[in-house]
Amino acid sequence: MHSPVIPTDYSPAQDLLQGKVILVTGAGDGIGRAAAESYAAHGATVILLGRTLAKLEAVYDAIEAAGGAQPALFPLDLATASEADYANLAEAMDSTFGHLDGLLHNASLLGERRPIASATWPAWAEVMQVNVNAQFLLSRALLPLLEQAPQASIVFTSSGVGRRGRAYWGAYAVSKFATEGLMQVLADELENTSRIRVNSLNPGATNTAMRRSAYPAETPTVNPAPQDLMPAYLYLMGNDSLGVTGQALNARA
Ligand SMILES: NC(=O)c1ccc[n+]([C@@H]2O[C@H](COP(=O)([O-])OP(=O)(O)OC[C@H]3O[C@@H](n4cnc5c(N)ncnc54)[C@H](OP(=O)(O)O)[C@@H]3O)[C@@H](O)[C@H]2O)c1
Repeated sequence: MHSPVIPTDYSPAQDLLQGKVILVTGAGDGIGRAAAESYAAHGATVILLGRTLAKLEAVYDAIEAAGGAQPALFPLDLATASEADYANLAEAMDSTFGHLDGLLHNASLLGERRPIASATWPAWAEVMQVNVNAQFLLSRALLPLLEQAPQASIVFTSSGVGRRGRAYWGAYAVSKFATEGLMQVLADELENTSRIRVNSLNPGATNTAMRRSAYPAETPTVNPAPQDLMPAYLYLMGNDSLGVTGQALNARA
């Protein structure tokens, strides 16, 4: 289910996200960091969620130094977060902002690269917890706030191995298939009843810590930097993608 709806020459307006409140998971590094900084540069107030406070603080400082709106920090380890943690997050956001315009599910774990036959249960379970269960818990907790926005966008992060399985990608690949499933079910549920659009985005090979760990022998710079993908990430968060929902998209052609 690939759809070419992201214009290849998309050029976002500087004020595309002015006044919007957007939460990014895994905002401390890689693609999540680039997305948080890019959303802020286009006018959004971003909520930085991640497990390493020092990294989130560095992103916070970078956004403030660039003149962006003051972000909010929400340190949370998605591997161990409880339902109460998600409820607390929703409550804090409700009292501070009263609504949410965008939710980028970006945080993921790569996990073990080995055959299913020798995959270990703790590693499998952790990947499914972070990459799938946390997305369900976070989406469920934040849906009431997304319903309060005039138009809202939920973006799930997929992968090539979440659209066609590949040997030795184990729980990571399976978690990305589940991500596509969660996206489709949610998009279908919301299609006629709300102003929330829901899509998945495959960034493609990108020069981040995850990619370097999956392909240690590869020259990192053969892949684009996270910043190079931002037109697609901005398109899906901004009102130029109104009406696009239930789609499995690619950040690059
Ligand atoms: N890079 C690629 O080539 C590629 C290709 C296809 C899909 N993707 C997808 O793109 C997304 C971003 O990947 P990336 O390459 O930017 O990876 P990355 O550089 O490893 O960044 C992942 C982010 O997720 C956070 N995270 C991991 N486990 C977490 C947990 N338990 N709780 C909270 N945050 C957690 C990390 O936090 P810490 O910084 O604290 O570790 C980090 O900020 C992922 O969904 C990935 O599957 C990437």
